[in-house]
Amino acid sequence: MALYQIVAEWMTYLTFYLLCAVFIAFVGYCLYVRHIHQKYDHIPGPPRDNFLLGHIPTFRREVNSDRVIHDRFLEWTEKYGPVYRVNSFHTVTLVVSCPEATKEILMSPKYSKDPLVYKHIFYLFGLRFLGNGLITAVDHDTWYKQRRIMDPAFSSSYLRGLMDTFNERAECLMQHLEVIAEERTIANMHRLVNCVTLDVICKVAFGVDLDLLKHPDSPFPNAIELCLQGMVHDFRDPFFRLSPWNRKKVREIQEAVKLLRTTGTKWINQRRKAVENAEDVPKDILTKILKTAEELKVDDEEDHEVMVDNFVTFFIAGQETTANQLSFAIMELGRHPEILKRAKEEVDEVLGTRHDVLYEDLGKLTYLAQVLKETLRIYPPAVGTSRWIHEDTVISGFKIPAGCAVLFSSYITSRMEKFFKDPLKFEPERFHPDASKPYFSYYPFALGPRSCLGQTFSQMEAKVVLTKFLQRFDFSLVPGQSFDIKDTGTLRPRSGVLCTIKHCAKSTF
Ligand code: HEM
Repeated sequence: MALYQIVAEWMTYLTFYLLCAVFIAFVGYCLYVRHIHQKYDHIPGPPRDNFLLGHIPTFRREVNSDRVIHDRFLEWTEKYGPVYRVNSFHTVTLVVSCPEATKEILMSPKYSKDPLVYKHIFYLFGLRFLGNGLITAVDHDTWYKQRRIMDPAFSSSYLRGLMDTFNERAECLMQHLEVIAEERTIANMHRLVNCVTLDVICKVAFGVDLDLLKHPDSPFPNAIELCLQGMVHDFRDPFFRLSPWNRKKVREIQEAVKLLRTTGTKWINQRRKAVENAEDVPKDILTKILKTAEELKVDDEEDHEVMVDNFVTFFIAGQETTANQLSFAIMELGRHPEILKRAKEEVDEVLGTRHDVLYEDLGKLTYLAQVLKETLRIYPPAVGTSRWIHEDTVISGFKIPAGCAVLFSSYITSRMEKFFKDPLKFEPERFHPDASKPYFSYYPFALGPRSCLGQTFSQMEAKVVLTKFLQRFDFSLVPGQSFDIKDTGTLRPRSGVLCTIKHCAKSTF
């Protein structure tokens, strides 16, 4: 037999065996998926779109139609109850709205973060993104070492010292708004407060002045925006990166990730040199980031990567969420003149004509605090958090076998009549100091050990910006704009909150 005939015969056998192997693997995988379905199908849930894909087609439809995916989860919660399941391939996620289970699971360190979800943001389209930083670290020890070092940078004594920066950056916004008021142009409040919050985090965390209101062509806001978009696509549509139509977008997102990480590397190296040269460096987040890597005692390269992970974490987590909260608050104040009037009266009472907001003022601005809390109830910028069930448990009477994820969403529970009467009504009185506290149904900063490190920081910053704005300006919302939410991974106002602005009649500035 000629050689080529032997080769051809071998190729035929090989192809046949390969096809058989693929077929057997596929059947094996289908049986495994069926086993998972059987394991969890006693828990209620919406019908799957597809045996293998589970509910992925629904998620893709929601993303493509630009809806808030959590509205779909809310509809399902109303229909299927306090615990229901969603499937994708062989994985199961339970959506839980029951306060007892929320308390039990989120408050306990024994439930780690869901590795499947957080792995999605370890890398973004093939590039290391948030890696093993504070938000994404799943292993308790790795996370705890970082948090322990970082905590002092968020203690009240340290935060008190940040009041000057909060005031200074908010003042720049006020000056910018004065020009807008004089020129009678329209202010896109989301874009403007976004510049302030990014300026603040860069200044107080990394000691860098960006001054974005004066330098609007900075690439950072766009890079953050692209990374957030990338996270949404990667989470909710596993086929996004495979489509040739999305190649350009994927490349843009990869460039954005690279920009953030190379900037992180540059700023970290500069600070490291300053430390080595015994220069006086602030005890800010960047200094803590350097210390964290030292403490983790991993090899040099990973050390460096973890530092950059945390740089990107603070760059992203420390900015957009607060900007979204502020712009939603301005939107709701614009829609409720009686609430706006009361908030302005409080600001005038506490500040009078004084320029700067003092640390002592913050505690006196109680109604403004209620407005900010109510804003986070209806519009929690960071919607949910996810935990992993390591051992068999029971939730709301259902036996939950180990090996699935549990999603908790403050967006869902905060919009349920069961927990908040007339939930879509903006009513700061719900958070009056004498009102009963929501019982594990309101947690915009998550709960327990993995709750937001920047909670106090963000609310101090939000209060300073909003106080100055209300003290200085009267505003009205441009008619005809949408009050809808845009789901970009975080939730933000779709319209950008367009306002016309004028100086307050009694303002002496
Ligand atoms: C209104 C503003 C904010 C909201 C609503 C918010 C919300 C959240 C939520 C829900 C989590 C948990 C995420 C998860 O489990 O996946 C979180 C974690 C975190 N946030 Fe915030 N955040 C805000 C502002 C900030 C700011 C200003 C900073 C930094 C200066 C920050 C830093 C962090 C960090 C480092 C974590 C991870 C904490 C850990 O696991 O130890 N956040 N935030």
